[in-house]
Amino acid sequence: MTPILLLGAGRMGGAIIDGWRQTGAVATSDLIIRDPSAGEAFAGSGAQVNPADSALKTAKTVILAVKPQLWRGVAEEVSGLLAKDAVIISMVAGVSSQDLSQAFGGRTVARIMPTTAVAVAKGTVSVFAAEAEARGLAHKLFDPIATTVDLTDENLMHAATAVSGSAPAYLYALVEALEGAGVSQGLTPEAASELARSTIVGAAALMGQSDTSPAELRRQVTSPNGTTQAALDVLFDENGLPRLMSHAVAAAVKRSRELG
Ligand SMILES: NC(=O)c1ccc[n+]([C@@H]2O[C@H](COP(=O)([O-])OP(=O)(O)OC[C@H]3O[C@@H](n4cnc5c(N)ncnc54)[C@H](OP(=O)(O)O)[C@@H]3O)[C@@H](O)[C@H]2O)c1
Repeated sequence: MTPILLLGAGRMGGAIIDGWRQTGAVATSDLIIRDPSAGEAFAGSGAQVNPADSALKTAKTVILAVKPQLWRGVAEEVSGLLAKDAVIISMVAGVSSQDLSQAFGGRTVARIMPTTAVAVAKGTVSVFAAEAEARGLAHKLFDPIATTVDLTDENLMHAATAVSGSAPAYLYALVEALEGAGVSQGLTPEAASELARSTIVGAAALMGQSDTSPAELRRQVTSPNGTTQAALDVLFDENGLPRLMSHAVAAAVKRSRELG
């Protein structure tokens, strides 16, 4: 499984490294980082940062973590430098196993779709791999820092991207909107920000500690005819949140297909 070569160590590659560091699941000394902007961030970490091309042959696992627009160029750059039996794990949205395997000289491929909370070992990682060995490898690497969900059909990776990979941004957008609404009701921006952020973080933590469904948790804090009910009547009206979320997820699925 190691050494692990990270092609790209930006927001997501960096989050994975943080999660491994925190849990000790992968030693930093087992990492080879290839990223033109990685220099200072990983200095003194024990990882090999932008080593000579010859070092890439030692990698048993290769994690592709560059932007979708760049992945093909990166594959062309490094494919000839890798060991024949290196396994490729890609998190690039929308790009199929077939295209990846072709671009990486027929090597075995797994696809993952992570969330940034891997940085604090509370991530979510969707996994698709046609071959059991690659799937097993993905689990070994990501089970320690995430809830991992196997997809049985590669096509479902688009939906997993829309419902999970992209979804932390939906929550942040909700907090932003709640803050804005608080300010329109007269709260100072500081008070609105603190109230919205702390309330959502607390509610998410409670949900994380309980097996109760979100719908039941919602019912538990909604008194009939109370203030929460008044707000939910708006959120759940005909053009409300379920319809909006369905449109938003469909737009993300469409974009994921386009990126492929
Ligand atoms: N961020 C998320 O929440 C998220 C969630 C799920 C999946 N993903 C997937 O993760 C991938 C990376 O996203 P990101 O948000 O981490 O992007 P990012 O922050 O831009 O990180 C990509 C890193 O790759 C570097 N890079 C550029 N050219 C390279 C090359 N030729 N070889 C090696 N590294 C190179 C970039 O350097 P420069 O900055 O100098 O260009 C950057 O540091 C994407 O494919 C995305 O679909 C992201």
